[in-house]
Amino acid sequence: MPIPKAELHLHIEGTLEPELAFTLAARNGLALPYADAEELRARYRFQDLQSFLDLYYELMAVLRTEEDFTDLAEAYLARAAAQGVRHAEIFFDPQAHLARGVPMGTVVAGLARALDRAPERHGVTTRLILCFLRDASPESAAETLAAARPYLDHITGVGLDSAEAGNPPSLFRAVYEEAARLGLRRVAHAGEEGPAAYVREALDVLGVERIDHGLRSVEDPALVERLVRARVPLTVCPLSNVRLRAVDVLSAHPLRAMLEAGLVVTVNSDDPAYFGGYAEDNLRAAADALRLGEDQVRLLARNSFEASFLDDAEDLRAA
Ligand code: HPA
Ligand code: ZN
Repeated sequence: MPIPKAELHLHIEGTLEPELAFTLAARNGLALPYADAEELRARYRFQDLQSFLDLYYELMAVLRTEEDFTDLAEAYLARAAAQGVRHAEIFFDPQAHLARGVPMGTVVAGLARALDRAPERHGVTTRLILCFLRDASPESAAETLAAARPYLDHITGVGLDSAEAGNPPSLFRAVYEEAARLGLRRVAHAGEEGPAAYVREALDVLGVERIDHGLRSVEDPALVERLVRARVPLTVCPLSNVRLRAVDVLSAHPLRAMLEAGLVVTVNSDDPAYFGGYAEDNLRAAADALRLGEDQVRLLARNSFEASFLDDAEDLRAA
């Protein structure tokens, strides 16, 4: 039995398995430039974050209707439940859909249909986190938040993702201030490919409560001390880090050292359709490669609930 856990770093568009991509393409009368799912899967070899993002944005063109987003989220929730996920905080990238003419309401309503029935169907509670694309402009981020205003009942927080290097958090100060005014929780990707200084900026300029990835924090001992002291969670994604070459091999991943330094780390799957595994797959692969003890695995699971946006009462029920 997989250990009960919360998934806190999961891009819903990154759960699009090749088979579902072909199904949705056919349903929408679109052609994919690959013969079949097997040929597509063979393309999942990445040099870095950008080479992954190129395919990630290309493939999400098959997502067009409300039903497509419902089917995508439903497939993810079924898989997550089977991997012991009791609570999932799910990122989505509305700018990537708005740019293709798919309205915010289609995306949110489609996802919400699957999320709303997930406690009953799958025993999984959820939150939705709207991510801004950091390689688009701050003005575009502000327009995106404005477009989301009618749907904030469904949205718990904002995040920041896409190509990190050269796109520092500080560019997005104003839109994060607006998100805070609207009562939204704040997280951001930082320290995946970008430097530890971006982790500091995400904390100091954007006011985030959690850092997504945060790997490169370990290059800055004073920052590590601060993250430990303030119990700022880092949502680490081991299989993603190997596939995108943030680390060379899983056995060289800093996860164990981070845990032992007292950081509130959690293990997550990022874009599981692309990186070779869902939540339990990531946890077991990391535990095996790094020889984590069962006590450390239990600590990672406990951290995932502590670091979540569940309130305490919900937390007890989920655990
Ligand atoms: N990093 C940054 N942006 C992303 C990722 C990631 O791992 N996955 C989807 N968007
Ligand atoms: Zn991510």
